Amino acid sequence: MPSITLKDHYVEHEGLLSDKWDIYLSEYERLFRSQRQTPVTILEIGVQNGGSLEIWGKYFPNASTIIGCDINPRCENITYTSDKTHLVIGDINQPQTLEKIFSITQEFDLVIDDGSHTSSDIIGTFCNFFPRLKHGGLYIAEDLHCSYWEDYEGGLHHPRSSMAFFKALADVLNFEHWGIEHSRVKLLQAFGISAPLGEVVLAEIHSIEFVNSMCIITKHPAASNRLGKRYIAGKSALVCDIKNTHGTYIGVPSQDENKFSTSKIANNDQTPPKKTPRNRPLTLAAKIYWHEKQGNAASGYSEVRSSAAKYSTDGERQTLTLLFPDTVGLLDSLRLDISDDLAAIILHGMRLVDSDGHELWQWSGYTNALAKVGGIAFFGDGDGDGDGEPCTLFALNDDPRFELVLPDETLAAIRPGCALLLDITPYTLASQLPRVFAQSGALAAEFRIMAEQLNTRLDQKDRLIASQKERIQRLEKNQHEQYEQLLRAESQLALLKELVVSSGCVESL
Ligand SMILES: C[S@@+](CC[C@H](N)C(=O)[O-])C[C@H]1O[C@@H](n2cnc3c(N)ncnc32)[C@H](O)[C@@H]1O
Repeated sequence: MPSITLKDHYVEHEGLLSDKWDIYLSEYERLFRSQRQTPVTILEIGVQNGGSLEIWGKYFPNASTIIGCDINPRCENITYTSDKTHLVIGDINQPQTLEKIFSITQEFDLVIDDGSHTSSDIIGTFCNFFPRLKHGGLYIAEDLHCSYWEDYEGGLHHPRSSMAFFKALADVLNFEHWGIEHSRVKLLQAFGISAPLGEVVLAEIHSIEFVNSMCIITKHPAASNRLGKRYIAGKSALVCDIKNTHGTYIGVPSQDENKFSTSKIANNDQTPPKKTPRNRPLTLAAKIYWHEKQGNAASGYSEVRSSAAKYSTDGERQTLTLLFPDTVGLLDSLRLDISDDLAAIILHGMRLVDSDGHELWQWSGYTNALAKVGGIAFFGDGDGDGDGEPCTLFALNDDPRFELVLPDETLAAIRPGCALLLDITPYTLASQLPRVFAQSGALAAEFRIMAEQLNTRLDQKDRLIASQKERIQRLEKNQHEQYEQLLRAESQLALLKELVVSSGCVESL
């Protein structure tokens, strides 16, 4: 026999009064059903006549603790028969009230905010209680229709309404794709969020769901909220070849030059992150070049025998795929230009795979597998002792390169569709300097010079961009002035025509 639903409870309830909208009952049924028999800990903000707490007690017969909090002292008159149900009287965002609640229980499975429905209260309550939600728990804000009304600090386009805040949390959830130097906390600063809601907790937001007048937020450990690796299933690609990307991580392109990514920072943020040229992520390209055997002679390295992949130096670990095209012949040697500008690249691994993804060769971790090195300094491990420590490559000029020491039979096995997979975490060179300084005095001076050069070059670029912007603005202003003059001349001409015609000298013009 199907168990009685939440709506059934509401229809049949005869005790203390509760006030909920129809859609909440069916949504709660969907959201809570799986937890009905578990020892859940529930907090509901807004008790009023107390009926909802009574009904939660019936709907969750094994609940361990049910707490209701209300600012209205008249709620003191409400009594419950179950000793699992606790009433806390006080303003939900006052420290004394928080203390009282946390003295009953520290963490919750379900938090329902049905309190004042005022935007700043809703946001403050989220700051105080989302950090106290257990992993797998649900945080629900009710009656968000108030977010569109002035009396509740709302309005359709109100920048700090509760709905604007929850919509911003959807961006927080996709933080790893922003492509700019920013933080989740800073994005939310304009909403006046308070300390308990820091980067660590925000990374634990797993999902945000909107239903008419409700927002439902779930919390999972940060690691399970990332996009993760790419899964390529199946064998036949009839439309688009996406081989050799299985198991790779997303490569986020830098959005530093995207005004739609950066323009709002200034509005939201009182102290925007200073984008110094030193640490600004760069979009770089890794390239492979190969010699081909042509009779007895070997061909030279050339753009026609090369393949590239782009990446951003934003510190995200990723796999780059450098594909050998249909035109590739019999290889004599293979060169890797890991970057086309200054960068610090942690090399976790390198693999050559065939078009079916079968491994042809794997880098042992020894730096001596990288020969004829130019413009590269190694740092860290790279000793191939199998301790799994990655090696850091410092690209010290804009043409860093090395040849891969590959067995002849591996080179001979390279065919169209094969790929070199690079497992890397790329950073700007300058951002890694403190680490290098701490560990190696010998390289420090060299890197300082490199960083200065990088800085100077970026400064030059910035100055060039600024002067070009100025020039464009001047041209636009001139154009505008000329257009205005033209309009004035046109209207003077029209007036003149009218005068001439009205003087009777001519019939028409
Ligand atoms: C809509 S009623 C709650 C209804 C109840 N949850 C139910 O389902 O029957 C809202 C309640 O929130 C309370 N409230 C308003 N502001 C509050 C605050 N800052 N802290 C705690 N409770 C508050 C009000 O006193 C009111 O009783």
